[in-house]
Amino acid sequence: PNKVTNIACIGAGYVGGPTMAVIAQKCPHIKVTVVDINPERIADWNDTDLSKLPVYEPGLDQVVAEARDRNLFFSTDVESAIREAQMIFISVNTPTKTYGVGKGMAADLKYVELCARQIAEVATEDKIVVEKSTLPVRTAQAIRTILDSSTDAMPGVSPRFSVLSNPEFLAEGTAVKDLHNPDRVLIGGEEDEDGQRAMEALVEVYANWVPRERILTTRIWSSELSKLTANAFLAQRISSINALSALCEKTGADVDEVAHAIGTDTRIGPKFLKASVGFGGSCFQKDILNLVYLCRHFNLPEVADYWEQVVKLNDYQKHRFTKQIIDTLFNTVSGKKIAFLGWAFKKDTNDTRESAAIYVADELLQDHAEIHVYDPKVPAVRIYADLEYLQAHRRPQFVIATPTIRGMQSDAPATLSSQEIRQLVHVHKTPYAATEKAHAIAVLTEWNEFRTYDWQKIYDAMRKPAFVFDGRNILDREELKKIGFEIKGIGKG
Ligand code: NAD
Ligand code: UDX
Repeated sequence: PNKVTNIACIGAGYVGGPTMAVIAQKCPHIKVTVVDINPERIADWNDTDLSKLPVYEPGLDQVVAEARDRNLFFSTDVESAIREAQMIFISVNTPTKTYGVGKGMAADLKYVELCARQIAEVATEDKIVVEKSTLPVRTAQAIRTILDSSTDAMPGVSPRFSVLSNPEFLAEGTAVKDLHNPDRVLIGGEEDEDGQRAMEALVEVYANWVPRERILTTRIWSSELSKLTANAFLAQRISSINALSALCEKTGADVDEVAHAIGTDTRIGPKFLKASVGFGGSCFQKDILNLVYLCRHFNLPEVADYWEQVVKLNDYQKHRFTKQIIDTLFNTVSGKKIAFLGWAFKKDTNDTRESAAIYVADELLQDHAEIHVYDPKVPAVRIYADLEYLQAHRRPQFVIATPTIRGMQSDAPATLSSQEIRQLVHVHKTPYAATEKAHAIAVLTEWNEFRTYDWQKIYDAMRKPAFVFDGRNILDREELKKIGFEIKGIGKG
């Protein structure tokens, strides 16, 4: 089919939900059905109260309000959606494997495989299958094998399948803006005539709002690999500036000044050079580990080591931040109250996956701290769930006690029970409640509202000396010092 009028998307998460909402908004002539096996998620997408959408993204409520029940539908009926659609996006999660071969490194493709098998079982007509999830290079081959084997199994009906790779480059917190106005859309397809026709059909969809010259078409392996490469390059910039932040602290240089100075070189560019407590989010670490695993698989150990260092440095940065808190508070935080401003992995999202806050909290809890959290968008249940999940899934190769990090020897981390976590971690509804009587404040997320607080009021209610560890370099250091705070930033010598 050349003109697509019916699209299905399997997976109603942070990618499937917003991308399909925008396709539906911009293509009123296409019926878009987003399906998921999680009935609660679907119910939330269908809630008339738009503040209950399962994904918080600025502007997303308006897009959903415009398109939902017009040509955008959310449903748990995966089979009907597959049957009716000409084009099916696979947008399910591809987390790091937590078991067996490739544990802790490789992408777990079981959800993607299930989707392919289900499409193969249900389809009676030709389908274009689009990989929207981030996948290791050559996954399209596996999907194709599964799809084709079904046509052998069902003589008489022989739907033809095309597989496209269409990785998503949106960033959370700016998803709607990124989808409305992408730097580029990338579509990889097979080189035969069917493949080319399928690519053209998907180009037509995006061309409803994206200028043609920004829609790139490539061979399918290039498209798959470009997604891992883009995330690896972006994360590498952060680890590079974070590595230098450590040197800034030793030498008296200011990392924000260094970043500005190098970022004005047009070859380097100013974006993505913000030193921080460490990158988080569901993508960077997972995709780099996946890339590292692929390189090892193809016997390229030097290439694997090179990229693995980006993740190691990020672990180091999170530990370094925590250690600075402990060192500054006279070498122990036992029984001390540490207030966390922010738990999300970045501002303007309710997503907490791989947030630096989780790791910093865990390490402070190992030293028996009491943690009081305020985040504008993250509920308490999520915070407890994140800490509980970490207890069961510490990556063995980067445990806190990594002896190679000089001066950071400590016991192997203890596994905290749910009860212990609930005793030591408290979640508050206001920043003032979280910081009252605190020994120190740690800023973990760069929410804009943190700058606007009544910092004098916060100071007055804290224990003295009142320490602030700004893991995002967002607060006004001079003003806070004037009030009386002892403030430490990242890379501020
Ligand atoms: P997510 O966990 O938010 O959503 C995935 C959804 O898929 C879940 O709701 C889950 O219930 C559903 N699902 C899993 N198996 C299913 C099945 N067999 N049938 C129906 N539904 C099923 O994940 P996400 O953040 O949206 O990421 C999805 C993919 O997109 C990943 O591969 C990720 O790497 C990639 N990606 C994510 C981002 C991002 O910013 N989050 C950006 C670009 C790419
Ligand atoms: C990333 C990619 O940017 C996006 O293209 C891809 O589709 C998914 O992965 P995301 O993880 O949503 O997006 O957010 P991003 O803005 O990239 O931030 C990732 C992490 O890096 C956050 O924790 C952020 O705070 C941190 N970061 C980002 C820095 O510490 N410094 C920076 O300069 C930029």
